[in-house]
Amino acid sequence: MGQMLQIALPKGRLGEKVFKMFAAAGFDCPEALEDTRKLIFENAEAGVCFFWVKPSDVAIYVERGAADVGVVGKDILMEYKPELFELLDLEVGKCRLAVAGKKGFYDSTEHTLRVATKFPSITMEYYGKKCRDIDIIKLNGSIELAPILGLSDVILDIVETGKTLLENDLEPFETVAEVSARLVANRSAFQFKNKEIQRLLEGLKAQVEAKR
Ligand code: PRP
Repeated sequence: MGQMLQIALPKGRLGEKVFKMFAAAGFDCPEALEDTRKLIFENAEAGVCFFWVKPSDVAIYVERGAADVGVVGKDILMEYKPELFELLDLEVGKCRLAVAGKKGFYDSTEHTLRVATKFPSITMEYYGKKCRDIDIIKLNGSIELAPILGLSDVILDIVETGKTLLENDLEPFETVAEVSARLVANRSAFQFKNKEIQRLLEGLKAQVEAKR
């Protein structure tokens, strides 16, 4: 039997969807979806151990080798540029990073643009390329409030269905990047557990193709 694979999955709806892909690819652990507060689930027979991790922390677990592989949003990879291998676009959790603001907002470019965001590094890079002078207001959630309350001119945030923008009388102006969930691997685990990771990769690729 091969070595045990330690897998970090994002807690929540996306994680559950992704877990089902792992299970269908033969990396199952029936108890993992039970309604408990447990965070670690092991299936020695299938050679897997799953951890449920806060989505924005998955990359840290994988980068530091606490997990061999994990699933993380492309937005997090773009923001933190962790040192790991990005192996596969799982084509789920599809959304986009967009600039949005109050309906009819016009950027006159005479003033510094105030941008509220959870993604300061992506924001800096995006406006840096445009040579636009900005003031970044780093928030941790409910970003849409910022332009409504006059805290910022625009936001750079995740748009999935567009419902949050719509219901708050905001509109998207520009798409910064398309985002989806990615399979990532720790760099040394990719060498030392290569056989197991390749098997997982092939299994997940088949799942992605089957869903197209
Ligand atoms: C994200 C994002 C938007 C919302 C977009 O927030 O920051 O607020 O989802 O989704 P929609 O286009 O389908 O409406 P999240 O739910 O992660 O909560 P947060 O406000 O705490 O960041």
